[in-house]
Amino acid sequence: MNHRQPILFFDSGIGGLSVLEPVRALLPHAAIVYAADDAGFPYGTRSEVEIAGRVPTLLGRLAERYRPRLIVIACNTASTIALAAVRGALDLPVVGTVPAIKPAAALSRTRTIGVLGTDATVRQPYVDRLSAEFASDCTVLRHGSARLVELAEAKLRGETTPAADYAAALDGLFDQPGGDLLDTVVLACTHFPLVRDELAAAARRPLTFVDGGEGIARRVAHLTAGQDWPTEPVAGVAVFTGSANIALGLRDSLSRFGLTTIEAL
Ligand code: DGL
Repeated sequence: MNHRQPILFFDSGIGGLSVLEPVRALLPHAAIVYAADDAGFPYGTRSEVEIAGRVPTLLGRLAERYRPRLIVIACNTASTIALAAVRGALDLPVVGTVPAIKPAAALSRTRTIGVLGTDATVRQPYVDRLSAEFASDCTVLRHGSARLVELAEAKLRGETTPAADYAAALDGLFDQPGGDLLDTVVLACTHFPLVRDELAAAARRPLTFVDGGEGIARRVAHLTAGQDWPTEPVAGVAVFTGSANIALGLRDSLSRFGLTTIEAL
């Protein structure tokens, strides 16, 4: 394997940066390609058929172009709908991002956890299965928020975002029957850890927020153990499926994550 062969991250937008960050902390010399399907953004309000049709095809094109050693689908919506299809179509390791219900259930004292994701993610049978397997003694409340995805994108473009909108997203969980016992919330969309501080500040009661980033980083380190990397950190590439203009306002944020080259697919 060529030591410059990258790890390819994939999301609809900039959410996957919350997964890239812990991976870079563990593998600081890894070559990185970060792909954002901004032409298909947002995924959370799309149908299963649209996502299942779009994601494997796009990842096939990206794999051909960048020859990654491993792909991280850094998107809960794409993973809960299309992970099996992508694995079936590509001959390389594919790590998915699925709601961190298991660690949340391990942490909750009140046995009431919330799953905050996109509309498409929170309705997936994948979430039913994770809840049954790892949180069968918990009340699992779910809420889908497209607004939080927009807020995370806006924050990374350097815009100010209203505190009331974060509070409203959490109210979608607190206001459900049993919501008064909520103590732990799964950030089941990769955009949401990027606004964790804003969510914590807006919560009407203290909450523990859990996401899958650290676990994915450990998995990627395990799958690439013993492989060669460049001896120095190399410039990361951000690739956008839509007009590369969308990246203009994001240039500073992308470079904070080591992504200094911006390309269009
Ligand atoms: N970041 C994505 C996720 O983890 C989806 C955001 C969107 O495009 O709606 O689900």
